[in-house]
Amino acid sequence: MNSAPSVFFYDRATDVVDHTSEVLEGFRRKAKFISPKFFYDERGSQLFTEITHQPEYYLTRTETALLQEHAGEISDLIGEDILLIEFGSGSSTKIRILLENLRPSIYAPLDISRDYLAQAAQALGSEYPWLEVHATCVDFTGDFELPFRSEQRHVSFFPGSSIGNFERTEAEVFLKRVRQLVGEGGGLLLGVDLKKDETVLNAAYNDRAGITRDFNLNVLSHLNREYGTDFNEAAFDHLARYNPDEGCIEMFLVSRVEQTVTLANESFRLEEGEVIHTENSHKYAVDEVRQMALNAGFGSIRIWSDQDELFAVFYLS
Ligand code: AVJ
Repeated sequence: MNSAPSVFFYDRATDVVDHTSEVLEGFRRKAKFISPKFFYDERGSQLFTEITHQPEYYLTRTETALLQEHAGEISDLIGEDILLIEFGSGSSTKIRILLENLRPSIYAPLDISRDYLAQAAQALGSEYPWLEVHATCVDFTGDFELPFRSEQRHVSFFPGSSIGNFERTEAEVFLKRVRQLVGEGGGLLLGVDLKKDETVLNAAYNDRAGITRDFNLNVLSHLNREYGTDFNEAAFDHLARYNPDEGCIEMFLVSRVEQTVTLANESFRLEEGEVIHTENSHKYAVDEVRQMALNAGFGSIRIWSDQDELFAVFYLS
């Protein structure tokens, strides 16, 4: 049996103090805001996994099918002996498809959810004994560096249309940073949810089983536990709707009553019906992604999409 350590863990999460001031800043705005990254405590990560199994949430199964169907072609394009960096941790079947087909030398998942990441890294490490795993707990929405060096060509994987959480200008900045990170000869495999009929989009964020609602409300319990707020989940409703002008799903928590919440000795009043904005999920046309990729300095673009053009996978290099 080979007992050489093959899973490494790096904790680069900014401390709680930084996050508290970020939450405060969001509450002080006229239109109150909680960053979607606070969804992903352990329960939030589990609820998101449950969302991906809902019949209305076509994103994950469509992307997975694309990766499966085109795995050979994608592997040929990406090539061998790489460092595979994943933005968001590999809890899903998607990363397994890539690991099995690409057989990278090193797999480096980045995630803000520490325990979830650690578990996923361990699981993949034992599932694939030939693989070296370097997991980093980090908030990759800001500037960051890899905590280790590797000689291998760098290829990034950013699935799930998580890029949709960035505003459109920020998404381009993010692509520029990835371009710097992977360097000359590197690439980015990117999953993007496409613009489509609003009823399909609205249904995906208002599943009948109410899992998206639970996921949205859970951010309040996360803040209560981690940052000492005193939210009552029962005092809020879930609201998600497509904004055609912005090209994004907007998600809110709606205060059911007039109420006061407290964070770090500061009180915040919420009117009945007042909303807290919790997420934007931007939808793109293929040409919009193409333009962003070019602006970010990628020269070559390959695209795979499903028949109904619900979702697209891009390889930018
Ligand atoms: C993980 C950001 C891609 O926007 O579809 C799912 C998160 N929010 N349902 C998305 C989410 C509500 C998801 N992303």
